[in-house]
Amino acid sequence: MIRELILKNRSCRRFQQNEKISRETLRQLVDLARLSASASNLQPLKYIISGDARINAKIFPTLAWAGYLTDWPGPAEGERPAAYIIILGDKFIKYPIDCDHGIAAQSILLGATEMGYAGCIIGSVKREELRKILEIPDHLAILLVLALGKPAEKIVLDEVGENGDIRYWRDENGVHHVPKRKLEDIIVQEY
Ligand SMILES: Cc1cc2nc3c(=O)[nH]c(=O)nc-3n(C[C@H](O)[C@H](O)[C@H](O)COP(=O)(O)O)c2cc1C
Repeated sequence: MIRELILKNRSCRRFQQNEKISRETLRQLVDLARLSASASNLQPLKYIISGDARINAKIFPTLAWAGYLTDWPGPAEGERPAAYIIILGDKFIKYPIDCDHGIAAQSILLGATEMGYAGCIIGSVKREELRKILEIPDHLAILLVLALGKPAEKIVLDEVGENGDIRYWRDENGVHHVPKRKLEDIIVQEY
């Protein structure tokens, strides 16, 4: 089951924008992050959730989408995320933060996938712009933005080919292909 969930949990960048995600659902997803591992159990992560179209429209321009798809400017109106979860790090508790936000992001995305949603971790964020727009105080570092919604694209995993190219790409049918390295290429010692 966990393998199936992980296989299904692909980075999705086109959504059914009108399929709203309720605040209660977003709170449930943050609760999964809350219950996840944290270095020294310090739990420095804080969150902003938005399923509000007006706020979403302000967040969207601060995000960069699919760097390898150079001729694609990102999701068009109508296929943009229906919700966001912004993961923040409280500098009063700990800074820099180890990898808590990566673990939190994965917990949230697995939960969202199980609920029939999809998402994408966005690390390429115009942080100072977003900080101003949402009036995020300086002691809260903007770590990651999770884009969420009902998926509107097909994504398949491929094996990295002989040329070693790991760049994802989109075929003529709009299917998004994600090359993954082979297991034997990543286990470097085996006993
Ligand atoms: C820390 C991190 C930051 C990422 N930042 C972005 C980003 O800024 N924009 C984007 O479109 N995708 C971003 N991604 C998604 C990756 O491109 C994606 O995970 C990768 O292409 C593999 O696809 P998969 O998640 O379906 O396995 C990020 C992923 C991670 C883990």
